[in-house]
Amino acid sequence: MCGIVSYIGKKDPVPILIKGLRRLEYRGYDSAGLALLDGKSLNSVKKAGKVSELSDELSVSPIKGNCGIAHTRWATHGVPNDINAHPHLDKSGKIALVHNGIIENYDSIKKTLEKRGVVFSSDTDSEVLVQLISEIYHNDEGQLDFKDAVKAALQEVVGAYGIVAMCSDEPDSLFAARMGSPLVLGVGDNEFLFASDASPIIEYTRNVIYLDDGEFVEVKNSAYSISNIHTEEIVSKTITKIDLTIEEIEKGEFPHFMLKEIHDQKHSISDTLRGRLNLEDGTSMLGGINDYLPNILEASRIYITACGTSWHAGLIGKHLIEEYARVPVHVEYASEFRYRNAIIDANTILIAISQSGETADTLAAIKKSKELGALTLGICNVVGSSISRETDAGIFTHAGPEIGVASTKAFTAQVTVLIMLALKIGRKKGVSLHRGKELISSLKEIDTNVSKTLETIKLVRQVAKATCNADNYLYLGRGVNFPVALEGALKLKEISYIHAEGYPAAEMKHGPIALIDKDMPVVFLAPQDETFLKILSNIEEVKARGGIIITVTDEENDSLNSLSDYVLVTPKSHRYIFPITSSIILQLLAYELAQFRGCEIDQPRNLAKSVTVE
Ligand code: AGP
Ligand code: GLU
Repeated sequence: MCGIVSYIGKKDPVPILIKGLRRLEYRGYDSAGLALLDGKSLNSVKKAGKVSELSDELSVSPIKGNCGIAHTRWATHGVPNDINAHPHLDKSGKIALVHNGIIENYDSIKKTLEKRGVVFSSDTDSEVLVQLISEIYHNDEGQLDFKDAVKAALQEVVGAYGIVAMCSDEPDSLFAARMGSPLVLGVGDNEFLFASDASPIIEYTRNVIYLDDGEFVEVKNSAYSISNIHTEEIVSKTITKIDLTIEEIEKGEFPHFMLKEIHDQKHSISDTLRGRLNLEDGTSMLGGINDYLPNILEASRIYITACGTSWHAGLIGKHLIEEYARVPVHVEYASEFRYRNAIIDANTILIAISQSGETADTLAAIKKSKELGALTLGICNVVGSSISRETDAGIFTHAGPEIGVASTKAFTAQVTVLIMLALKIGRKKGVSLHRGKELISSLKEIDTNVSKTLETIKLVRQVAKATCNADNYLYLGRGVNFPVALEGALKLKEISYIHAEGYPAAEMKHGPIALIDKDMPVVFLAPQDETFLKILSNIEEVKARGGIIITVTDEENDSLNSLSDYVLVTPKSHRYIFPITSSIILQLLAYELAQFRGCEIDQPRNLAKSVTVE
């Protein structure tokens, strides 16, 4: 978590840093701070709360300088208050550091430093690193320059970090390093930026370098050099041109990023599909995995690993791949998978799904699978992200930047990629041309279907108004729509703080049915497929117990209408399109409920967009 931005160049760093922090605020919003070097003096301002608090403070008491580092925090160690906010300064007040990640051995280092008389001012693990750098730098009797002191300190820490540091003895320099937490270097015209992602950089330069684990950067006197953290070896890196536009990372006319991103689905799904559909052959074209297709076709088992919403997409993927490709698929939370003795060998394919491409557990699961000989494939949204680079091959979702903490368009893009992947493998393994064409034709109509689905907003608002005081919500679905129920429940929990559960509809009677009373809204995913009559019976069971029935279907009928309090209808399409359109309705429902409850939609409490710590 946490967002880092820093600037060195000819411009005033403050507006650049504040704007950058606002762009990164999705990564954490417990506190924010910045430090500037003004010649030989180092000044910092830190505030608990959002970036706006920091910005207000700076307008009352401005500080100035020629380069600066800034941070928006998602606390791991120490409560979110002014003191624990980054940047952290060393005891001499000469060195400042921002950190994203966790220093796992902070306690032992802290105790050693305390014995040597270092007094800590914060409860964070991050302060340990700046005090350690300081201790090494000041105790070497002039043997080490600042860069070497930073490198020496990094040899001693265990854990994950993306850091940027500066020292008043080196007024025209910034120092950065990466091990496990993302960091991008923007290379401008006599100006340089470091940031956790490219969004704070694009206004100043399109030239970026994605740092890899174990790399150290020194920017000094308008030049940069990249070396290995552990050695003196110089690392040569290529500059990537980014094509992100400012509009893509701003809300435009929408009150929240989440609502904008829900509406983006009118075109984001076809962005995912663009150039990848072959109607004539009833298949998809996925250039990113072509070279590995023989291995995929021979695989004896597939693991899908991911976290949160991406894991839900994985569950849908299992259904699709087993249906079309007839190969066993196991879906596991990356946090569990990485620590168990899963059966992985050279005939195993690991598919890692991640919007951000930075989720620490997912990344660790990939590394472990690679070590055990599996071929690893990534389904990522962020181009240049760690997961997209760590995997052997992959498929980008191309949904565009997703900034709202609650994932929406990335989820539907992931499902879209999984449909194409399942069909691709399936067609090679004997799925008929007719079945292939059927699915491809439905994908081609997706924009219209999404637009029509979004027209349910007025009715969704009525449902939300009537149920916004509920304490609990239940979501029920069967088969490929069970993960949609899980996703609907997660969306609601995240942004409205209503307790919600997703369940396989038929499992309800084995437990959750005890919860049902007149105050319990129950959302049913009830498309007209072979499970329809079974679902109808489950609806009857809830009706008999007085629950509030909200049905999402692709075709109204009299029984549904008479049993349900509300019926939300998506256009009729292929059965595998329903998980996409119905999840859009559930996104709208979560959004509207959160609105009625007055919640902070884009920045829900305790959460952050990408979880780069374990
Ligand atoms: C989604 O709404 C969540 N905020 C969260 O569960 C998210 O999906 C999860 O952290 C995984 O993130 P990733 O897709 O970037 O790896
Ligand atoms: N561990 C640091 C802190 O708590 C950084 C947190 C993070 O990057 O998520 O302040």
